[in-house]
Amino acid sequence: MRIRYAIVALAAAALPLGARAEEPAKVSYYKDVRPIFQQNCNGCHQPAKPLGGYVMTTHADLLKPGERGKAGVVAGKPAMSHLVEQIKVHANGKAEMPKNRDPLNVIQIKLITDWITQGATDDTPASAKAVVVDATNPPKYSAPPVVTALTFNGDGSRLAVTGYHEILLYDTAELQLKTRLIGISERVQSIAYSPDGKKLAAVGGAPGRFGEVQVWNPEAEKLLVSAPVTFDTLYGVSWSPDNKALAFGCSDNTVRAVDATNGKQILQMGTHSDWVLGTVFSQDGLHLVSVGRDMSMKLTEVGTQRFVDNITSITPGALKGGLMAVDRRPMKEKKMQKIPADTPGAKPNVYDEVIIAGSDGKPRLYKMHREVKREIGDDSNKVREYEAMPGRISAAAFNAEGTKFAAVSSLDGKGEVRVYDANTGTKVVCEKVTGPTYAVAWHPAGKMIASAGFDGTVWLHDPATGKLLHSFVVLPKK
Ligand code: HEC
Repeated sequence: MRIRYAIVALAAAALPLGARAEEPAKVSYYKDVRPIFQQNCNGCHQPAKPLGGYVMTTHADLLKPGERGKAGVVAGKPAMSHLVEQIKVHANGKAEMPKNRDPLNVIQIKLITDWITQGATDDTPASAKAVVVDATNPPKYSAPPVVTALTFNGDGSRLAVTGYHEILLYDTAELQLKTRLIGISERVQSIAYSPDGKKLAAVGGAPGRFGEVQVWNPEAEKLLVSAPVTFDTLYGVSWSPDNKALAFGCSDNTVRAVDATNGKQILQMGTHSDWVLGTVFSQDGLHLVSVGRDMSMKLTEVGTQRFVDNITSITPGALKGGLMAVDRRPMKEKKMQKIPADTPGAKPNVYDEVIIAGSDGKPRLYKMHREVKREIGDDSNKVREYEAMPGRISAAAFNAEGTKFAAVSSLDGKGEVRVYDANTGTKVVCEKVTGPTYAVAWHPAGKMIASAGFDGTVWLHDPATGKLLHSFVVLPKK
């Protein structure tokens, strides 16, 4: 697409004054126009968030009028299309839309206008024509979805589970589906309740097309923010302790954070060399930890967006395979960390520990901040390792006290769910797990852990004994 833009721009620049422009190249809705809307407009103009009464996620909706009663797109007539008027850049350099953002660039505006002039046809290939999915047409399931993430709310009354195009909220007493939060991302990869319990964040996207950060008010079933980020699925969302920021990993190897009230980017860190799959903030919110397929765990200072340190060893072979799971250990009392005497200018940080795990199946506990000067190749932040699980670990979660953590793994079509004592390393293997497991969460009162994965079954286990308390299959009917 870049190349195509460049050619359009060059052709325009090369025209002698007064010469008639050649017929512009045929513009494709699917390849040229739709991606512009996905990146710049759909966050505010989708079924769950139709600002101005205008939806832009399907071709048919684009032709309809919004609140002002003017059709957004009138085929063949850009001058009568309200959408064109809204993206027009005024003399002051501003445009009505995208609201409160920089206007679209000249090339994007020309592509949209030319597409409308040429008849605004829908050239979406039949194979890519997705069934329309929104609150009135909820996703239909012929089989249970692969569950990529689940989490309890603050009082444990709800369990949020990822589905296709949606997040499903179950009542934990009745084990009944209560609420469906349906968005534009086909895949929701990761979900997290805000520390104050008021909001539910999700990241996901459509592979190879767009990434998205969603923030919901789950009580009101209202989508508060839908922000596009990069051109691919996002992973590993986490909240800052003050409920203000959301961090996540991207498949362009960056770690990013956005303002949770409006989706505006506030942090970007690019020293990972492969996809970033997990994030967590420090207790005080001043630092951000990220893990990824490059087998490393990295520390970033939030205020300056500065990469601080590799927390894991950077010696080749110290870790085998990528890291997917990360969770901060809740600490009973706030401790300050020791600082090496010979570290000039170092600030004392709040002492934090994190559990990480991934492809080699071995959970490891690390200190977040270095307490001794780095010796090349050392692994001095490591506190301890735990017995390996079969296969790869996709998720790990601490209990509220920070005394135990649960981890889930998958290998050759099978899965395992375990609870480890963080101090002694003693393990409990949970019973009757039937398939590969990708997600785990700890009930806030500690009496129950939930896990799920490939076969769409949610297991609820007693973490003390490993006994299966309940299980149910994620398969919304209707
Ligand atoms: C941050 C949110 C936001 C984004 C992003 C956004 N819009 Fe809007 N849009 C609004 C709101 C709010 C309104 C309602 C009118 C107003 O407040 O100006 C609106 C109204 C409109 C309307 C008029 C609907 C009607 O009939 O009243 C059109 C057309 C429109 N937007 C097109 C676009 C296009 C095209 C883009 C992307 C280039 C875009 N918008 C991006 C928030 C947004």
